[in-house]
Amino acid sequence: MVRRAVLPLAGLGTRFLPATKTVPKEMLPIVDKPAVQYIVEECARAGIDDVVFVTSTGKASMEDHFDRRLDLEAALEAKGKEDDLALVRDLAGLVTIHSVRQHEPLGLGHAVLMGAGHVPADESFAVLLGDDIVDPQADFLERMIAVHERTGRPVVALLRVRPEQASLYGIATVTPGDTPGEHLISDLVEKPSPEDAASDLAVIGRYVLPGSIFETLRETQPGRGGEIQLTDALNAMAHEEPIVGLELDVPRYDAGDKLGFLEATVALAAAREDLGPDFVAWLRRWLEERDQ
Ligand code: UTP
Repeated sequence: MVRRAVLPLAGLGTRFLPATKTVPKEMLPIVDKPAVQYIVEECARAGIDDVVFVTSTGKASMEDHFDRRLDLEAALEAKGKEDDLALVRDLAGLVTIHSVRQHEPLGLGHAVLMGAGHVPADESFAVLLGDDIVDPQADFLERMIAVHERTGRPVVALLRVRPEQASLYGIATVTPGDTPGEHLISDLVEKPSPEDAASDLAVIGRYVLPGSIFETLRETQPGRGGEIQLTDALNAMAHEEPIVGLELDVPRYDAGDKLGFLEATVALAAAREDLGPDFVAWLRRWLEERDQ
């Protein structure tokens, strides 16, 4: 059973400056929820009740977001705003949150390693990156956990990318797995040039990993960009025995990038029962007027 997750949230978010000078990129709202809330809700839906935030300077607002806010609750209660009260109060009961600091941005692998104190070495856990927003209606993480429980192997999410995008991701060398959508990964390369990419399958920010990865991470030397790369630790594991890639078949948005953030905002607003119909009608009118 996978009941813990590590959320690496310590990055500087330079692609989103100047907004991220003082606001963590994971706190930027997609419609009316900060990005990190989608991620924590995804954990809760998948049965994860214990989450480690790996943060850095200036990111304490993320912890506050999942805490009680008694003055606000009292004000909402006094005004009889029961729905708003539930929105604010229920956040504190979603999952148990622990927080650890990554003092220096030494890489994603290093950030995951910071969670080791909260995950027993013999337990499997999930890693979710705050940049990757996966369709909130989907059960993709549950399916990754089920594949991990069936195979006993690390499981990563794979996305098909265009050749010119290879240099943005870790790219996998694969053979077909047992089930449609599953691949066996024998090698991973972090951000290869398009000519060197072994496939069009890229690792994105969802992982289900055995606790033994911490030992591998401790031995992982700085790689691309001088950072300790999670991809390199996974690659070492894949060289011993293939790891499993589950191909993403539901919408996913890279909310750490400006265009991806806009796409997520439009898609999630359009899918909302309360906002969607009015928003889509406005968008249609706006596009028609603009294109005239
Ligand atoms: P990114 O590569 O997106 O880096 O990290 P970033 O700093 O967050 O954003 P940009 O590129 O400067 O705009 C991928 C994920 O890994 C985490 C980030 O928080 C993000 O979720 N990360 C990365 C860490 O927690 N620590 C690190 O040292 C590096």
